[in-house]
Amino acid sequence: MKALIFDKIGIPQQVLYLAELPIPVIGDNDVLVRMVGASINPGDFLFIQNLYPEPKKPVFPHQVGGGHGAGTIEKVGKNVMLKPGAFVAFSYYNTWSEYVAVPAEYLIELPKDFPLEKAAQINNLVSAWDLLTDSGVEKGQWLALTAGNSSLSLIISQYAAQRGIKVVSIVRKQRPELGAQLTKATETIELSKLEGSLKDKIMAVTGGWGVNGIIDNVGGPQLADLIKSVAFGSKLIVNGGMSREKFELHNFDILMTNLTIQAHIYRYLFAPVQSSDFTMLSDIIEITKQPDFYVHIGGKHQLEDFRSAVEATIQNPEKGKRFFVF
Ligand SMILES: NC(=O)c1ccc[n+]([C@@H]2O[C@H](COP(=O)([O-])OP(=O)(O)OC[C@H]3O[C@@H](n4cnc5c(N)ncnc54)[C@H](OP(=O)(O)O)[C@@H]3O)[C@@H](O)[C@H]2O)c1
Repeated sequence: MKALIFDKIGIPQQVLYLAELPIPVIGDNDVLVRMVGASINPGDFLFIQNLYPEPKKPVFPHQVGGGHGAGTIEKVGKNVMLKPGAFVAFSYYNTWSEYVAVPAEYLIELPKDFPLEKAAQINNLVSAWDLLTDSGVEKGQWLALTAGNSSLSLIISQYAAQRGIKVVSIVRKQRPELGAQLTKATETIELSKLEGSLKDKIMAVTGGWGVNGIIDNVGGPQLADLIKSVAFGSKLIVNGGMSREKFELHNFDILMTNLTIQAHIYRYLFAPVQSSDFTMLSDIIEITKQPDFYVHIGGKHQLEDFRSAVEATIQNPEKGKRFFVF
């Protein structure tokens, strides 16, 4: 089978290569999935650069890239209840490959007609749900989202609109192709056109209330400015670090706003699906399978086309989520 693999830690464009590997052998509790689609995510690049904590570490030789995707069950181990032919999504390892052996407990069964471009980024559908819930922002209140053009933020904005939460989306540059109708953000702040401070702008768009929560994917000095725009008792969730820069705060920026700062780790990054997740997952599936639930797609690529897929993801992530199709 074809797989996109790496044999040393490094920059994805430099270390990934296409190889022929044997189809994996499954154990009694595993499933062999024939991949249909696998998304290319910032986190996949963190894994290749060995930036994730234990146990999410590459194992050499022949570590396959990719941590998320969807496919059809080809074969099941003798203790597995799922049936061959079922359409499943999962977050595990090795998804940039024609076949993957996955412990059955990591699989999320989907309706057969669930759109592939959504199934292949199950990580974003679930993370967005958890982030919005964990933010504690309530109906009628304001949530600030950074990397507003990201796949994740566009999903969060749509969940927020359904929950009556107002979103101020902070982007580097407006993307005309993402009209307000698609982004579902209540307000968008374009950093490249910002005059004055981000705090002043947020205070203006929220009518002086400030935001009740921040989901931050970027960091850097912009985050320090953003933190100064929170209402008393707000929460900041640190979810990503697209900026290379650090930020500086004074203790009073946190103390006088009673700000909670919390990290978010995707629930299936280290752990399998729990039975207590089933209701949440069926809510997510029901909402996101609707044709008017929008995901911004940059392109579908064959594994052979991995160089341009990876390059485009790194250089122009705002053009939409890219994924491999098999
Ligand atoms: N903690 C977790 O468990 C978890 C789970 C899922 C995703 N994430 C994080 O969520 C973020 C979004 O993921 P995604 O899959 O939605 O990404 P994506 O679709 O590739 O989008 C990335 C976006 O980042 C924005 N951006 C801001 N500053 C940037 C910079 N310096 N370089 C490149 N892009 C920059 C761009 O939007 P603008 O044009 O609006 O600036 C771009 O559209 C990432 O940081 C990812 O690591 C974390």
